[in-house]
Amino acid sequence: MPDLRGVGKTWGFKGGYKLAEQKATTSVLYEETRVFEAPRDLAENSNVMQWMKKKGFKSEREMRAWTGQNFIAFWDEMAKTYADWFEPYAQVLNWQPPYAKWFVGGKINVAYNAVDRHAAGAKKDKVAYIFVPEPVDQPTQKITYADLAKRVNKLANGLKSLGVAKGDRVSIYMPMIPETPIAMLACAKIGAIHSVVFSGFSAGGLNSRVLDAESKVVITTDGFFRRGKPLPLKPNVDEATANTPSVKNVVVVKRAGIDVPMKAGKDVWYHELVAKQSDVCESEKMDAEDRLFILYTSGTTGKPKGIEHVHGGYCVTPAQTLSWVFDIKDSDVWWCTADVGWITGHSYVVYGPLCLGATSMIYEGSPDYPDFSRWFKIINENKVSVLYTAPTAVRMFMKAGDKWPKTHDISCLRLLGSVGEPINPEAWIWYRNNFGAGKLPIMDTWWQTETGCFLVSPLPITPLKPGSPTFPLPGFNVDILDEDANPVPPGSGGNIVSNSPWPSMLRAFFRDEVRYKKEYWSTYWDIRPGTYLAGDKATKDKDGYFTIQGRIDDVLKVAGHRISNAEVESALVSHPKVAEAAVIGKPDEVKGEVIVAFVILKTGIEATEDLKPILAKHVRTVLGPVAYPEVVYFVNDVPKTRSGKIMRRVIKAKALGNPVGDISALANPESVEAIPLIK
Ligand code: WTA
Repeated sequence: MPDLRGVGKTWGFKGGYKLAEQKATTSVLYEETRVFEAPRDLAENSNVMQWMKKKGFKSEREMRAWTGQNFIAFWDEMAKTYADWFEPYAQVLNWQPPYAKWFVGGKINVAYNAVDRHAAGAKKDKVAYIFVPEPVDQPTQKITYADLAKRVNKLANGLKSLGVAKGDRVSIYMPMIPETPIAMLACAKIGAIHSVVFSGFSAGGLNSRVLDAESKVVITTDGFFRRGKPLPLKPNVDEATANTPSVKNVVVVKRAGIDVPMKAGKDVWYHELVAKQSDVCESEKMDAEDRLFILYTSGTTGKPKGIEHVHGGYCVTPAQTLSWVFDIKDSDVWWCTADVGWITGHSYVVYGPLCLGATSMIYEGSPDYPDFSRWFKIINENKVSVLYTAPTAVRMFMKAGDKWPKTHDISCLRLLGSVGEPINPEAWIWYRNNFGAGKLPIMDTWWQTETGCFLVSPLPITPLKPGSPTFPLPGFNVDILDEDANPVPPGSGGNIVSNSPWPSMLRAFFRDEVRYKKEYWSTYWDIRPGTYLAGDKATKDKDGYFTIQGRIDDVLKVAGHRISNAEVESALVSHPKVAEAAVIGKPDEVKGEVIVAFVILKTGIEATEDLKPILAKHVRTVLGPVAYPEVVYFVNDVPKTRSGKIMRRVIKAKALGNPVGDISALANPESVEAIPLIK
């Protein structure tokens, strides 16, 4: 690992996480001893093994170490292997911590790499997407690369006709249908910056994201199907764009056949917009560092962070990591079950697989509609060979019972994956036994919205330990550090960091430079500038295997969805009867965590049982179903520091019956006693 100490200048900015308070160092109580070797034929024929042989590496460890040390040369080779450039770059990396520029001077467009080059070549008739609608009476659709190119071009021209130009923001608020990736690609093609907002957010969640991005256009649908019923979506957009002067047009896909009001001069039907457009559209020649998208994600405060990603990096690492970790071959059918509204959908439903020219599944609905056989039928009927899903889904199937996997032939699967939250060893083993016939390897990939691609993950050649994402991937210098920036010894834990930049790393927060520096770069700045703090705690075992322990900040992971405690709290406080609120995550055997709220009512408001569901529903209305609090408790006070900061960690410890630690610094230590036990 190159020593990056002293790189860059100190900007004199303080205020990162206080590590002592975060208890960065923890010790491991349990160590996994089971090791599962990769099947020999899979390992031998894997994409990564081919590369290793070509380069003469003798072992995986040697290869991982060399590519970390030589990360610039490595990414240079990958950028040339995986992407087509309109104009070559002059410099691989310009690193002025905390600002990285990759492939400096290169001209590229990710839509060209994802679609046009395949549509113009041998893959034109290859299926890019297999779309399975939720209603069982609607047929599966197959979209070839040639079809996809035409549809993207028509919408790109349609957006141009609405006045959308390079650098303009377009919000996309849609369910899992083919028009969603098409909308993203159409934006990328003309150099517009997309901001996809998960359709599980309601009008309030959408409004704050449209306001911040100052989007010119919002693309949505009349509605979507959920558990067989058409539900409206467009009314949320009407509400969310009532006070957003930047929004000139709302483009509406007719998906659910719901009658929605269309405002003349503002609302445009998608099918009418594209009908009159040419199916030819030149890709804008983008600078490698030009912004591709903003994706809002949750951080410590209630205000979502607009993470910015760029064209150049996005043409390289999603495709390369997908090819190496999931070993995608031309004959594979890849199914990443994530919604496109989250980063996993961006990188591994849209840009990664399309840049590889792969065939991907898109399924619109719930895993258990009409019953738990649905996924197994989809896998069987479409010959899905690689499945990538979240531990929550695995645990849901586990709870539903072995009968579903046992009664379906899913022998077409050859590799499995997991993402979004820690997978407990029990679920890992169940997944391997029931989806993987007791033999398929599970690629547990650790990464984030900020990283754009997997950072810590097995390869199909790696001996696996249940519940461990194993090691940093080739080309990364990820480590676990203690408070003094020393790598932690085996058997103990600390903060996950990256000691070097990588092509698809976040470049900035949309219009918030201070927060960008503070959240990721300030913690170790004085010791080693340019150290990226991921915000997760992890441990390393004696063999160097990572185990992820969860977030160091106040961010919840509910069914793998990233939600900020503060955002839920501010939704609660927006109710007229609520004075204050504190939100914590309670461990849940299926969803990982569920949201529990402690609410202080305004003086004179009676704490009645029937007010609890009203407040939970209020959060659903303001923020969306994704943030629904499972339980609401009324309390008179919550523990706070003298500066008024709510101590969620103390609340959580008391509520779960764990030791609360030293509470002498609290302004109101007596409030701790009144927090009820919620176990
Ligand atoms: C968590 C999702 C354990 C982690 C791709 C991270 C994981 C956050 C894993 C990012 C994993 C993601 N094991 N935890 N394999 N993958 N996480 O931005 O806490 O929605 O910081 O990106 O999810 O969530 P995000």
